[in-house]
Amino acid sequence: MSGKLKVGIVGGTGYTGSELLRLLARHPQADVVAITSRGEAGMPVSQLFPSLRGELAMVFSTPDDAQLTQCDVVFFATPHGVAAAQAEKLVAAGVKVIDLAADFRLQDLAVWEKWYGHAHPAPALVPNSVYGLPEAHRAEIAGAMIVGNPGCYPTATQLALIPLLTNQLIDVTDIVVDAKSGISGAGRAAKVDMLFAETYDSFKAYGVNGHRHLPEIEARLSVIAGQPVQVTFVPHLLPMIRGIEVSVYANLTQDISIDALQKLFETHYANEPFVDVMPAGSSPETRTVKGTNRCRLAVYRPQGRNKVVVTSVIDNLTKGAAGQAVQNMNILFGLPESMGLDTIALLP
Ligand SMILES: NC(=O)c1ccc[n+]([C@@H]2O[C@H](COP(=O)([O-])OP(=O)(O)OC[C@H]3O[C@@H](n4cnc5c(N)ncnc54)[C@H](OP(=O)(O)O)[C@@H]3O)[C@@H](O)[C@H]2O)c1
Repeated sequence: MSGKLKVGIVGGTGYTGSELLRLLARHPQADVVAITSRGEAGMPVSQLFPSLRGELAMVFSTPDDAQLTQCDVVFFATPHGVAAAQAEKLVAAGVKVIDLAADFRLQDLAVWEKWYGHAHPAPALVPNSVYGLPEAHRAEIAGAMIVGNPGCYPTATQLALIPLLTNQLIDVTDIVVDAKSGISGAGRAAKVDMLFAETYDSFKAYGVNGHRHLPEIEARLSVIAGQPVQVTFVPHLLPMIRGIEVSVYANLTQDISIDALQKLFETHYANEPFVDVMPAGSSPETRTVKGTNRCRLAVYRPQGRNKVVVTSVIDNLTKGAAGQAVQNMNILFGLPESMGLDTIALLP
């Protein structure tokens, strides 16, 4: 590759957009050359995000003014529907697209339309798009023009279940995914139910009867298992800013010891730069992945009974969104997969 990648970001004022900026500002092979906001056009990025003072001398521009077709890759850190509406023009100009929203996560358009409530804006592009979970689809991502970056809950969930499903160790009709997310998962736009006084010092489940990540989780786990997978998915809102913890519960179909399960997970992820299988008996904590692109996992078989439990933590904004998107960019352009992502969590 000659010269640095020219990168555009649509939706630079949101939480995943600002996380992309944080990571790309120090990426040795990427230059952010276009960054959009309809609301803040004309404002220097470092004025909205003083944490980036001295790092980026960019000004937000409207999506119409941004020179996106001049980029090598454009990230969409926008609500669903935005990337699909613009992707055709970009792909025709040879620009690769990484969508952090849901436009290219589901191959079944009828399912997409049921959960998103309107017709898909670019159905013809969907079959050639690739689902961007590198730990499951690295080779396909490398040759893609459009990557659908996975959702945050689906990332933590799939990484917890892949070794069990690929080895046919669990009942695929009865998996429970008990998931909790920090509040930044809801984005930066003002919403009353996300106010400090509404969320702090309290804890609740939401979307129990149906959350948009359910069809993504079931569809992608079904691809991995090679048969239909059914999940009970219960997300919860945690009064913290960043982080997701997912505990999955599944019924074993074979009598496999906890030592063998531990070995299976360690072997499966031995060469994955961003998946850390913790020692038996560990409790992965969200604070140990904060600001990093890492997923930490632990596997258990409590009391030696029939239920296998896996706990999995990620930072929703990093491995759950912008970090994984940069990982996908690295794969798309043949760069070392960890480039620009080699950070350690801030702790305590
Ligand atoms: N937050 C997370 O943890 C997380 C994790 C994984 C995936 N995601 C997904 O990533 C996407 C972005 O999430 P977020 O949390 O960063 O959202 P956000 O904080 O609400 O930011 C949305 C951004 O999109 C821009 N935008 C909104 N409508 C637009 C339009 N029609 N055209 C162009 N730009 C538009 C906004 O800026 P202007 O309005 O000024 O243009 C803003 O910069 C969503 O699809 C979300 O589901 C989020």
